[in-house]
Amino acid sequence: MQTHEIRERFINHFVNSGHTEVPSAPLILDDPTLLFVNAGMVPFKPYFLGQQNPPFANGTATSIQKCVRTLDIDEVGITTRHNTFFQMAGNFSFGQYFKEGAITHAWTLLTDPVDEGGFGLDPERLWVTVFLDDDEAADIWHRKLGVPKDRIQRLGMADNYWSMGIPGPCGPCSEIYYDRGPEYGKDGGPVVDDTRYMEIWNLVFMENRRGEGTGKDNFEILGPLPKKNIDTGLGIERVACILQGVDNVYETDLLRPVIDVAEKLTGSPYGKDHDSDIRFRVIADHSRTGMMLILDGVTPGNEGRGYILRRLLRRIIRSARLLGATGATMEKFMTTIMDTMTPSYPEIASSRERIIKTAVAEEKAFLRTLESGTHLFEDALGAAKEKGQTTLSGDKAFTLHDTYGFPIDLTLEMAHEAGLEVDREGFNALMAEQKARAKADNRAKKHGGADLSVYREFVDGHPTRFTGYGNLTDQATVLGLVHDGTKLTHAGQGKQVEVILDTTPMYAEAGGQLGDRGTIRVGDTVLDVTDVQKIGKKLWVHKAVVTNGEIGVGDTAVAEVDKKWRHAARQAHSATHLIHAALRQILGPTAVQAGSMNKPGYLRFDFNYTEQLSAEQLQQIETVTNEAVDVDWQVNTIETTLEEAKAMGAMALFGENYGHNVRVVEIGGPFSMELCGGTHVDHSSQIGPVAVLGESSVGSGVRRIEAYSGLESFGYLSKERALAEGLASSMKAPTDELPDRIAALTEKLKAAEKQIAEFKKQQLQQQAGTFVDDASTVGAFTVIAEKLEGLGGGELRQLATDLKNRLGDVPGVVVLGSDDGGKAPFVVGVTAEGIARGVKAGDMVKLVSRHVNGRGGGKPDMAQGQGTDAGGFDAAFTAVTDDLATR
Ligand code: SER
Repeated sequence: MQTHEIRERFINHFVNSGHTEVPSAPLILDDPTLLFVNAGMVPFKPYFLGQQNPPFANGTATSIQKCVRTLDIDEVGITTRHNTFFQMAGNFSFGQYFKEGAITHAWTLLTDPVDEGGFGLDPERLWVTVFLDDDEAADIWHRKLGVPKDRIQRLGMADNYWSMGIPGPCGPCSEIYYDRGPEYGKDGGPVVDDTRYMEIWNLVFMENRRGEGTGKDNFEILGPLPKKNIDTGLGIERVACILQGVDNVYETDLLRPVIDVAEKLTGSPYGKDHDSDIRFRVIADHSRTGMMLILDGVTPGNEGRGYILRRLLRRIIRSARLLGATGATMEKFMTTIMDTMTPSYPEIASSRERIIKTAVAEEKAFLRTLESGTHLFEDALGAAKEKGQTTLSGDKAFTLHDTYGFPIDLTLEMAHEAGLEVDREGFNALMAEQKARAKADNRAKKHGGADLSVYREFVDGHPTRFTGYGNLTDQATVLGLVHDGTKLTHAGQGKQVEVILDTTPMYAEAGGQLGDRGTIRVGDTVLDVTDVQKIGKKLWVHKAVVTNGEIGVGDTAVAEVDKKWRHAARQAHSATHLIHAALRQILGPTAVQAGSMNKPGYLRFDFNYTEQLSAEQLQQIETVTNEAVDVDWQVNTIETTLEEAKAMGAMALFGENYGHNVRVVEIGGPFSMELCGGTHVDHSSQIGPVAVLGESSVGSGVRRIEAYSGLESFGYLSKERALAEGLASSMKAPTDELPDRIAALTEKLKAAEKQIAEFKKQQLQQQAGTFVDDASTVGAFTVIAEKLEGLGGGELRQLATDLKNRLGDVPGVVVLGSDDGGKAPFVVGVTAEGIARGVKAGDMVKLVSRHVNGRGGGKPDMAQGQGTDAGGFDAAFTAVTDDLATR
């Protein structure tokens, strides 16, 4: 039974019993704790927790969720059942049926005969496990469904109690296993051997909430969920493996074709050698995972999701090389896996080109890396072996990484294959040093290269109190003054100084928003604040110039934000949130934020997306944004815990360290909810108009959108209007007729250019006649040598051909040069008779080249070149005739 059909039967079974079919969520959801969706229940989490009501008619749902789990990446190909990408089929009950319902559904679908819609598995081959004290589940299996007691086994927390590995819903579970027969392992059921007895379906009785903790069994159970729920997960790949009678999940209908292609491309056979087989399976598995990740918007990179994708793609390339491939293989692997997956995921069809482009670009880059890094690796390896060492030094591993872009896991793998260890500690220490250096460099840049130790005592003793969400002016005590990394007690007029206050209303640059501008006053003394930066998370440093008087440590000061600055800064930051929300609405959830910057009147927003946005998409984004402004939503800020914020659906950036207490900025409820510490308007209409300037690419897979906000938008739009009006007046047409007018003008221009070209041609033909009449005789040759004005190389060539024809059977040579506005193109043509007498156009072109500072070449009958000095043609022609005269 083909995979596609297995999926269909599953969905049909549950839809027929009233479940709502829910499409798979993308592999990436807004959850910083989760790199990729890794279970069918992930999109349903708020319903289990009782935070939202499930929007399904009978409170039940069914789905086939795309999942990626890369924790087991090293197991791929070695065991018979580990896939990094797999399809989890599930049925879910939110407070409806519980254990008996879930168990009965599963059993029926698995054992019902094929012609009645089931999978037709032999009940004698099915084993089940239940949680230690779950007599209720054991009883249902035995009494209701007749599973003999000796095929019901009990397992503890680590195996039969399921949670997401983080605080959230959890509960005991019951798993169903299929006995693949004694050739796969020992008797005794799943507790003895989980290769022979392959787990196919996990039924989770989701009834509790768990707290923090580590591992599968080391956490506290906080108490019951509002309702008892069911979450199940059937591994489609594993069922396919059984129903297709193949040995492992890599040989099923979806993946096997990739192995076949790999055999062809590498010249190695599959099924002959254990190590090679693992590589074939890695290629098949990773090709699919890589393809599905790119489909959902991931691009190869050096961190987080991007790094996982990079690692998968690189493992494919390396495996193929180890199997004997010498050239590029990626495109073939990608097209093959796309072909097998498209029936279940039709959206692949429209992304084929993008997927191939992304994967092939990574392949090209990596092949180059491999080339250079492998030499160094082999040298290092040889040297280590020569010295009888069993370890590759951390230093070498670091050079490979730092200079040659060799990922450490690759070094580890290659060393392992060569029977060497790698000094991981040494490598890690060097990496840590490098990171610290980079960080210090960055900070030093922001702080003018100053030594940061001077701030230490302030960070520890007096973290700054920030009051700027509510206040624009505040009284403060001057705690410190710093200049060039040195503490001062006083600073006088004209001095550039960094001021540390106990309290400040001024926003320090963070989350993309620039620091505030403003003033610090002490009595009559005024300091202009030109920037505010944070040291760590706690200390605000005001960069300022003393415009008059003097400031001293201990003074009482008044810090005041420049109101105009802040007003426009708030507009820009809130506009950034709206643009982000609009982007996701128009482009989908894979358009994940990759960075942003906003300052009064302007914002830019970077996001993951592999295609250029169309003008229409940009316009839609601008419209959605301005509509959100127009609704005049109240902008709410909510201080809460990270967990609550996520439960509310707030967007967090992956890889960002938010701490336990967070601030959520909400505009229009679910429309825009982001973790953010920035300053925002109170109502969305205060943002004013938002004008999108355009979009561009910033690195592979990341695009940037830029926009103006508030008065800047107005200024921009007004300038654009003035421009259009200026054009309209010079075209003497109303602005809305401009496009037509310009199109008509361009047409006219084209027609005129064509006509001119035609005239030129006629003129040339006329000239050609006079050139033939004026031809000179040099020895046995008839020679036409003419200098022309304003003709390009193509036109000269045409003319030379024409002249050659007119000369007919005589031994003739045509030399034409042109003064073409700084360029000096030239052409030499030789008739057949001329060639017969040993003249070659190419030689003549070389001769001409010398006099016009040019170069060129061609065939004996026609050659051309280009120089820069048209003044040299006369001398060139003389050289040609002199040459011919000697023949
Ligand atoms: N959530 C459970 C699992 O991932 C069942 O779907 O195994």
